[in-house]
Amino acid sequence: MVGVAAGDSPKDGWSSRSAFILAAIGAAVGLGNIWRFPTLAGESGGGAFVIFYIACVFLLGLPLVLSEIFIGRAGQTDAVGSIRKVAEASNASPTWSVFGSVGAIAAFLILSFYSVVAGWVLYYAGVMGMDLIDAILSGDPFRGALAGESQEAIQGRMGDLFANPWLLLAMHFAFMGATLYIVAHGVGGGLEKAATWLMPAFFVLLVGITIYGAFVGNMGEAFAFLFTPDWSKLTPAVMNSALGQALFSLSLGVAGLITYGSYIREGSKLGSTSAAIAVADTSVALIAGLMIFPIVFAVGLDPAAGPTLVFQSLPFAFQSMPAGALIGFLFFLLILVAAITSSISLLEVPTAYGIGERGWGRRKSALIFGGGAFLIGIACLLGYNVWSDVRILGFWPLFAETDILDTVDGFTGKVMLPLVALLTSIFIGWKADRRLVEETTGLAGPMLGLWRFLIAWVCPIAVTIILVTGLFPSILGG
Ligand code: PHE
Repeated sequence: MVGVAAGDSPKDGWSSRSAFILAAIGAAVGLGNIWRFPTLAGESGGGAFVIFYIACVFLLGLPLVLSEIFIGRAGQTDAVGSIRKVAEASNASPTWSVFGSVGAIAAFLILSFYSVVAGWVLYYAGVMGMDLIDAILSGDPFRGALAGESQEAIQGRMGDLFANPWLLLAMHFAFMGATLYIVAHGVGGGLEKAATWLMPAFFVLLVGITIYGAFVGNMGEAFAFLFTPDWSKLTPAVMNSALGQALFSLSLGVAGLITYGSYIREGSKLGSTSAAIAVADTSVALIAGLMIFPIVFAVGLDPAAGPTLVFQSLPFAFQSMPAGALIGFLFFLLILVAAITSSISLLEVPTAYGIGERGWGRRKSALIFGGGAFLIGIACLLGYNVWSDVRILGFWPLFAETDILDTVDGFTGKVMLPLVALLTSIFIGWKADRRLVEETTGLAGPMLGLWRFLIAWVCPIAVTIILVTGLFPSILGG
C-alpha cells in the first residue's frame, strides 16, 4: 500500500525559489555559526583562522554548494538516487552514489551530537528564561542576568549540567522530538514552514544583539582579534579544522544540499542561489563573532575557552550588562532557532534516503533515523559523565584524548565531510555530463569556466592536501 501521509507525495517540494533559499540558509546557519565558529576561531587564535576559513568558503565551499544543489535538482530524488541518476545520464559508474551514502551516514552521526549540544542550549534558554521571569516579577525587568550569583556559581552550572545524565537526556530528547515532529510533516508543511517563520525571527535577534554588543562590549578588540592574522598560527591542524568548519557550516559533505536541491521544482539560476547561501552563512558566522567576542573581551574572559565559551562565559558577561537578563534569554533563544532549522535538514537527508531507496513512508523513515541518532546521542552525552574515560577512536593519535562527542564531531568534520567533498568535486569536475550541468545550473560564460576550474582542479587538490596533512601531521615531520 502506498502511504498518503503528508510529505509522501512525490510532488512535495519548495513552493518558490525564495522558499528554497530561505530553507537552505536555515540549514546552513546553525550551531556551526554561533557555537562552533566562535569556539574554533577563539581556540585557533583568531585572524589567521578566520581569513583561511573565508578563503575555504569561497574557493572550495561555494563551488561545492552549487555542485550539490545541481545533483539534487537534476536527480529529483534522495541523495543516493540523485547521484546515481546524474551518473547514468553522464555514462559514469552508478557506484559514485556511494558518496551519497557516506554523506547520509555523516548527516546521521552529526545529528546525534548536534541534538545533544542543542539540548544544552535549550537548558540555558530555560535557565535564562526563568531568570527573566524572576526579573520581571521583582519589578526590574532590565536588570543584569542571574543577579547575585557568583562567577563560580554561573560557570559551575555547565559542570552541574554535564554531571547530570538525566537532565542532559531530557534536553536531548526534547530537541530531537521537535526535530522529528517537523520532519515528519514533510517538505512544504514542515521544513518550509519552519524556515519561513524562524529565519526572519533569527535575523532580527542576531542584528539586535550585535548592536547591543557594539554598545556595551569591546568591539575594537573583537575586530582586531578576528581579523588581524598571525600567520604562524596557521598550522596544518588549524587549516584542517578551518576547512572542516567551512564544510560543516555550509552543510556540505552530508548530501544535505543534494537533498534540499531535489525539492526545487522550477527555475534554474542555481549559481546566484548558491552564492546567496554562501554569503548569508558566512556573514552570520562573522556577525556571530562580532556579537560574542566584544562581550567576551568586555569582561576580560578567555576567548580560547573552547566549546563551553558561549555557555559559561556569556551568562557571566550578561550579569554585568544592562538588560542582561532579557538579552541573555534572547541570545539562547536565537541559538535554539538556528539549531532547529539545521537539525531538520540533518534528519531530512537519511529520511529522504529511507523514502527513496527503501520505500518507507516519511514518518517511519524519520522515526527510524531520528530514533537511531537519539540513541547515539545518548552515548555522546554519557561521555561527559559515566563514560568520561571512553575513547572510541583511542588508537588514533588525533582522537586519543577526545571524549565521545568530540570524537564523533571530529571524525565527521575532519574525515567524512572532506572525503565526501573530495568525491563530489571529482565527480562533478570530471565525470558529470557537461550539457546536463550547463542546462541545469543555468551557468554560462566566464562564470561557468571559473566554477569548472575551481571544482575540477582547486577543490580536489586543496582538499586532498588539507586532508592528508591534517590527518597525518607526521608527513610534515610534525
Ligand atoms: N550547517 C549547520 C550549522 O552550521 C550544520 C549542518 C551540517 C546542517 C550539515 C546540515 C548539514 O550548524
